[in-house]
Formats: sequence, structure tokens, C-alpha cells
Amino acid sequence: MCAITSTQLRERFLEFFRERGHAILPSASLVPENDPTVLFTAAGMQPLVPYLLGQPHPQGKRLANVQKCLRTGDIDEVGDAFHLTFFEMLGNWSLGDYFKKEAIEMSFEFLTSDRWLSLPAEKLAVTCFAGDADAPRDTESARIWERLGIPKDRMFFFGKSANWWGPPGKAGPCGPDTEIFFDTGRGPASTRPNDDSGRFVEIWNDVFMEYEKRSDGTFAPLQQKNVDTGMGLERAVAVLCGHTNVYETDVFAPLMELIRGSVPRADERHLRIAADHLRAAVFVLSDPHEIVPSNVEQGYVLRRLIRRALRSLRLQGAEEHHLLDIGNRFVDELARIYGEAYPEIFERKSQAETQLWGELQKYIVIEQRAGKFIEQVRGRGDTRISGAEAFAIYQESGIHPDLLRSLGASQDVTVDFKGFEEEFQKHQQVSRAGMTQRFAGGLTDHSERTVRMHTATHLLHEALRRILGPHVEQKGSNITPERLRFDFSHPRKLSTEEIRKVEDLVNKEIRRDLPVTRAVMTPEEAKAAGALGFFEEKYGDQVSVYTVGDFSKEICGGPHVPRTGVIGRFHITKEEGLAQGIRRIRAVVE
Ligand code: GLY
Repeated sequence: MCAITSTQLRERFLEFFRERGHAILPSASLVPENDPTVLFTAAGMQPLVPYLLGQPHPQGKRLANVQKCLRTGDIDEVGDAFHLTFFEMLGNWSLGDYFKKEAIEMSFEFLTSDRWLSLPAEKLAVTCFAGDADAPRDTESARIWERLGIPKDRMFFFGKSANWWGPPGKAGPCGPDTEIFFDTGRGPASTRPNDDSGRFVEIWNDVFMEYEKRSDGTFAPLQQKNVDTGMGLERAVAVLCGHTNVYETDVFAPLMELIRGSVPRADERHLRIAADHLRAAVFVLSDPHEIVPSNVEQGYVLRRLIRRALRSLRLQGAEEHHLLDIGNRFVDELARIYGEAYPEIFERKSQAETQLWGELQKYIVIEQRAGKFIEQVRGRGDTRISGAEAFAIYQESGIHPDLLRSLGASQDVTVDFKGFEEEFQKHQQVSRAGMTQRFAGGLTDHSERTVRMHTATHLLHEALRRILGPHVEQKGSNITPERLRFDFSHPRKLSTEEIRKVEDLVNKEIRRDLPVTRAVMTPEEAKAAGALGFFEEKYGDQVSVYTVGDFSKEICGGPHVPRTGVIGRFHITKEEGLAQGIRRIRAVVE
């Protein structure tokens, strides 16, 4: 019998921080609102960037939550003991309130106190920032740990690669961190974390966000010193229950059992990949933004997760009927495991099943085609598929190089992945952030152009409702410094006339130079005041509402321009269908 369930850990974590004056925020959706540089929410701090940079948060200076996260940067590691694509992150924040001492003391108390998790303190090891030209050695954190009883030989110092956090390579808030590891006592007789032995598992990261990384790569002190922490729920449950890996935890064990019992062979790594990727895919499919498998952006990641899962199952001898059976039962099982914590899994179950089923049918055909292609490559006496060739076949037949690599492995055929990604990026012309970073997770870009586009998006939303009708609802939004993109419900293609009218209305409101103001209120007050928002999503107790003159009112984290006059000319560059009843507009401001 395990010491704790995932439900209990969520509850205890939030209770601990509530008792210590933290407001509890709901999990933001997996697809970020108005974040130009990322496809998915990859950390609990991501929706909080404006507040870490100094904007007052409507809920106060102490916050905590459990956040749904998706990271695909380590997708090739999935299948080992602790890496996952989708995971839940327990986090607490101080926005210019407490700093190192309180943050470390609270982490230590929650982990070790008998009232909370009761982990033996002597099994913990910590790492701190070693210091470099940008920031000093974090002796303060080390002293705090020492006072709490962590001996010097359980304390290690590393540079930025291990002890600095802020989404990689991006501008935004960041800083040194101190990571807490648990010594499992298993594996090689290693004495230090971070050495690949697998003996130590990282369970919590306390980040001291006191710097802002500027776009030229330099670091400047932030106006406030913040704390941002993250503890992976699945890892923590595994450690607390003495499991050797996350797949033995209560959120994974029934899924592993289901898959194991449904396929002829049972290579553990492939079963884990299937369980992880399918779980992530169902969470994406349950997002209110109605992401469907496709060849672009979130839809591309979703399709890739599903196909990699199916490939792993095929490698375990699964036939088409096994795949269909697993697909259906898997969604049922997930709804059972998560229905209470994340009701969207339950509510969007039939859509998720339909999409999974559709992908499965497509996959079977694709796999056959990919097999033929590998035969052709071998037939011409070749063993290497170039990036350009991999991209051409991907575009032509939707065959991802992942599949070519997997099918080709037994015949010694390899694929130039780097070349493929270069071609892919050239083609997609994704934002400056680039595909790899967008996959790994990144940060909001507050460049002035982006801010102008945020406000233009509000004007567009309202203009669409006035021209097309109040049935128009936002389904997604994504802004890069180059363009804005807005997805919304509408049953038909927009006529040229409608597009012109929408553009004209937005430009008229820009020329009126309307003031943009922010107010804080409860979601109920916001709704009563007529503010647009995702009311089907849970908000916290207090929300920010941005009002643009007498034209628009919308719940949003910001940032926005002070007056519409600075936005510039608004121009719609493309209008297209995204899915049944959902349209997508791309627009620029000049
Ligand atoms: N935001 C802290 C972490 O992801 O570790």
C-alpha cells in the first residue's frame, strides 16, 4: 500500500500553501492564451510572466497551483524511469514578497515534516548556483540549507546549465535556482546528483527570479525579487511511494496494465512510451481550444505524440484491432483517473475518442507507405535518407521521420533529422523562437510590436462579433512579433466583404485612439459587466479585465498598449477553416 495518492498530494500541497497565505490559482489551459512564443504551457510560471515582471497580480503576492504541463524537449528520454511529456507541476510563487529563506524553509518543511510528507531529511541532497560573470555564487541558499541540517557533503554547486532557470535561450524573468534531490539508494554507489547514475531523483526546484534576460542575452536585475518553484507530481508520488519509476504510480499503473494486457509483446520501454504519449494526447484533445491533429503547431505535436504511441504499440505486435481496443479503453481509464481533478477529460471524452480513432485509421495507411519507401531506399542501394528527402516525403504523404527511423532501424537505414528540422522550419516560418524552443516551452515576448498585437486581437474579437454575430467565440490565439492569429467559432468562410468590414471596424477603433484600462474584479462581476472570457474554464477569485474605450471588454492577463492610436494599421492577411465550425484569421499591424 502506497504512502500517498496523487489526489492526496495535490490536496496536501495546496493546503500547505493556503495555510501560509497563498491564493490558489486554477490550472491554466494546456494551450497558452496570448502567448506568442510557445505552443503549450510548459511550467506553472508561464501564465504568470507579466506578474513576475512587476504587474500586480489580482490575487496578491503569494500564489500556488497545480498546473497541467506539456514539454516535448525531452521526448526521446520518455520511457526511462522519470521523464514524461505531459505532467502535473505543483508550484508556489512569491511576487516580490518572500525570498530565499522562506521559500527554502517552506520546501523543507513540506517535504520533511511529519504533518506533511515525512521524507527523511537525510535522504535529501541539494544543488545551488556556483556563480559566474552574470550572477554571484548562491552562498545564501547554501547557508539556509546548512541551518536546516543539510550537511555540506549533501550540497553541490553547479553553473547555469544545471542551476539557473528561465525557459532556455529566451528573454524574460529568470534566476539562480536550488534543486532538491531524493537519494533513492538504488543504482550505482554515486554520491552526487546530476551525474546520470539515476540514483538521485530531482523532486523540487526553487527558482529565485531576480533577473530579466534581455533579448541581447544580457541580464538585468528585476524591479522585484520573485520565487518560482516547481515540483513534478508524478515524480514526487513515485519517490514517496518507493516506486522505481513514475509508471508505477496510481495515475499510470492502470494505464500500463491496460496496455500490457492488450498487446502480444511487452517491452517495458515501448509500453511506457505508449502510455505517456497517449495520456498527453488525450489531455491536449481535452483542451477547450479544441486542438485537432494536423501538420501545424499544436496539432502537429498532437499528431506526433499519437503516431509515436501507435508505433510503439505496433512494435509490440499490436494489430489494428488491438490499437482500436486500446484507444477506446485508454480514454475511459483516463476519465476515471482524472475526471475529478480535470473534468474536461470527462466532458470531452467522445471528441477525444473520435480524434484518436481517426488518427489510428490514417496511421495504418501511412505505415504501409513508409514501409514501401524504406524498401525503395534499400532497393537503390542506399542507407541514408537526407533531410530534404525526409521533408519531401513528409509533405507529400505525412510520413514523419520518426516513423522512417523506426521502420528503417532493422534495415540499417538512417535519417538526417537535423536536415529535416531545418527544412521544416524554413517551411513553417514559425516565430523567431523556432520549433525546438517552442516545443521545449518558452516565454512571453513583451516587445512593443507584440503588445500592439495583443490589443489589436481584442479589437478583432469584438469586431468579428459585431460584424458576424454574437455566436463568435474565441477558440485560440497566438501572437508573434510578426503576426497575430485568432481562431474563432463561425460556421462559414468569411466573404471578402465581411473581411473588409472587420478590418475597417478595427482600423476605425484604432483611429479613435481609445484609452485601454485595466480593472480587477471577480469572474462573476466580469461576466456581469459583459466582459468576454473563457467562462467554461475555471478562473481564480479575481481576474484582470481590459476595457478598450466603449468598444471592448475582455478578461486577459495583458499586457496592452495604453491607447489604441499607437497600434498602427491593421490588416487581415489570411482567413481559413481550421476544423468544422472553426475559422482562423491571421493579421498584421503595420
Ligand atoms: N518553473 C520551475 C521549473 O520548471 O523548474
